[in-house]
Amino acid sequence: MPVEIAPSFLTADLTRLGEQIDKVLQAGAERIHVDVMDGRFVPNMTFGPLIVRAIKPIVEKSGALLEAHLMIEEPESLIPEFSAAGADLITVHVETCPHLNRTIQQIKDLGLKAGVTLNPSTPLKSLEEIIGGVDLVLVMTVNPGFGGQTYLPSSTSKISKLHRMLVENGLEYIDLEVDGGINVSTVAEVVSAGANVLVAGSSIFNSESSPAKNLTDLRAAAGGVSG
Ligand code: DX5
Ligand code: ZN
Repeated sequence: MPVEIAPSFLTADLTRLGEQIDKVLQAGAERIHVDVMDGRFVPNMTFGPLIVRAIKPIVEKSGALLEAHLMIEEPESLIPEFSAAGADLITVHVETCPHLNRTIQQIKDLGLKAGVTLNPSTPLKSLEEIIGGVDLVLVMTVNPGFGGQTYLPSSTSKISKLHRMLVENGLEYIDLEVDGGINVSTVAEVVSAGANVLVAGSSIFNSESSPAKNLTDLRAAAGGVSG
């Protein structure tokens, strides 16, 4: 599947958020990734439905997809609000969903795409009973909570195994997304392993060159490779 880039504005200049998002959309970002954190599941607190509502018009105008990555306890309590705010896709952590099948169904019943996310130490085995019912699997390639972290090398074999699992079960249509430490040095490795949706935050918004150029460079670094 073609590689898609999903900039995360977690470490962007939030005093110019609309402008920053516009820049990456104009540079061809297929998605905008909203990192939602509650200070309980992860040791950081960030954005809620309000920010999704605020950025929805510019994301929608570009035709890009607005995805909410819920790094929160009890996500089922806020899924309706993120849906009403304009999220197109919601991905929840296996680790926060004791009734994962019901939570995924809740997202789909709202007409949204549903994703499931695994922390670095959560085995692929936990996907076995749910994999056929989701649109996306998000493999955390850092421990969730902060941008600007270093890619965990152990992620690569996990991505490969997941890709193989999808192919062997005729589930190639499911997006394989990676999140954390994705930059020009790590992107070829994750795409070769089978990732097709790349969340990138600090490599796009936190370097001397412009977000647009960083996004273009990232796509070029991924471009020559396919899973
Ligand atoms: C971690 C966040 C970050 C963010 C991307 O909880 O999910 O991974 O999206 O951060 P970078 O690309 O700066 O590692
Ligand atoms: Zn994320």
